[in-house]
Amino acid sequence: MMKKEESRRSRNDEIQEIRNRYISSGMASVADFYVESARGAIVKDVEGREYIDFAGGIAVMNVGHSHPKVVSAIREQAEKFTHTCFMVLPYEPAVELAEKLSESLPGDTPKSTMFVNSGAEAVENAVKIARTYTGRQAVIAFEGGFHGRTLLGMTLTSKVKPYKYGFGPFAPEVYRMPYAYCYRCPFKLRHPECNLACAEHLNDFLISHVAGDKVAALVVEPVLGEGGFVVPPDGYLNRLKEICDEHGILFIADEVQTGIGRTAEMFAMSHWGIEADLTTVAKSLAAGMPLSAVVGKKEIMDSVHPGGIGGTYGGNPVACSAALAVFSIFEEENLLDKAQKLGSILEKRFNSFKDRFNLVGDARGLGAMRAFELVKNRETKEPAADKAKELVRYCFSRGLILLSCGTYGNVIRVLMPLVIEDEDLEKGLGIIEDGLKEISAPDG
Ligand SMILES: Cc1ncc(COP(=O)(O)O)c(C=O)c1O
Repeated sequence: MMKKEESRRSRNDEIQEIRNRYISSGMASVADFYVESARGAIVKDVEGREYIDFAGGIAVMNVGHSHPKVVSAIREQAEKFTHTCFMVLPYEPAVELAEKLSESLPGDTPKSTMFVNSGAEAVENAVKIARTYTGRQAVIAFEGGFHGRTLLGMTLTSKVKPYKYGFGPFAPEVYRMPYAYCYRCPFKLRHPECNLACAEHLNDFLISHVAGDKVAALVVEPVLGEGGFVVPPDGYLNRLKEICDEHGILFIADEVQTGIGRTAEMFAMSHWGIEADLTTVAKSLAAGMPLSAVVGKKEIMDSVHPGGIGGTYGGNPVACSAALAVFSIFEEENLLDKAQKLGSILEKRFNSFKDRFNLVGDARGLGAMRAFELVKNRETKEPAADKAKELVRYCFSRGLILLSCGTYGNVIRVLMPLVIEDEDLEKGLGIIEDGLKEISAPDG
């Protein structure tokens, strides 16, 4: 009898049961199924069910799952060697990749690179480098910012639950400014009449919160990622950079989520013609291989004493080879153009959602980094996090992988591979639309 019942349990349920026993519940997953394989923008689970992927492993799969060129690059490198530690025995793929990164960031100042493994580590290292170069300690971050889950990473991160809750004490000398979130302006002003008061606020901030000559760096996402895909108005980041320059504060662009083509530029800062002092890169850099980098002005990067930065796995040769394949794919398949076209389709469709569903209070984005925000009431803009959860659940049940984000958990974001087939894109958008109908109030 027992045997019969067991055999009726699905493969996903079986794995889930073992997972519950052996994987910490603190490391939670959105899905309750287990992945067998993935290709392009399609993921297949262990029971053969297919899903359209609008999440891309949280902005990691811009070139698509298991792109044949990435797979070959990984295989070829793995057959040669998988690890020597760059700090002991260096190798060419890391050098070649550093050259590519330096060339693809905006600005003409010579740049150099250091490699680590995750976004959080890149941010940590950018701050270490900024502190060494400036001889100062303080760091300014933003409301709505997300920079990772390590001690300094979570300190720089804004949202308390789940990222910081109960994990204190936090790292010292971190100060937080409001971000240019026009839909919910922290200054209750309207753009453009506001004259970018939120950027000018940095001047006051350097009087009332921390002295400019004590600040090593300002760490900012060009578009808030986890904070809700908030795109600042033109001129905002430029003004912040100007004020930083006046005080000798280094400008760190955290391009972990915006980078590698997501916004239809290789790096989002290009949209505003800004050359950051330091830039952090991770996620889509190596198509899923754990690799991150700090790329910055050479003079700043070289201010660190030899051996002061690095790590056992930083710039792993297999990961670097995968990243080199990513750069080739971008060129060969015109992925920046694709991101632009994809962004236009998403923009139109999300604007139509806003026109048709009262629940959708705002639709926004840059390139293919697009989102819409759900509200209970368009006047009060009360966040509808419960509806965002409902929509995500609905989409999963219909075979679409979708993610929410935002300080209030009420933003639906899309990060599908840029190589998604038109048919899958249309199908996925149709599922979201059906979901919005389903969860909208009868008058909505
Ligand atoms: C802007 C930004 N910075 C840093 C991180 C942290 O990256 P990781 O999870 O690889 O540590 C993330 C992750 O979502 C991010 O979006």
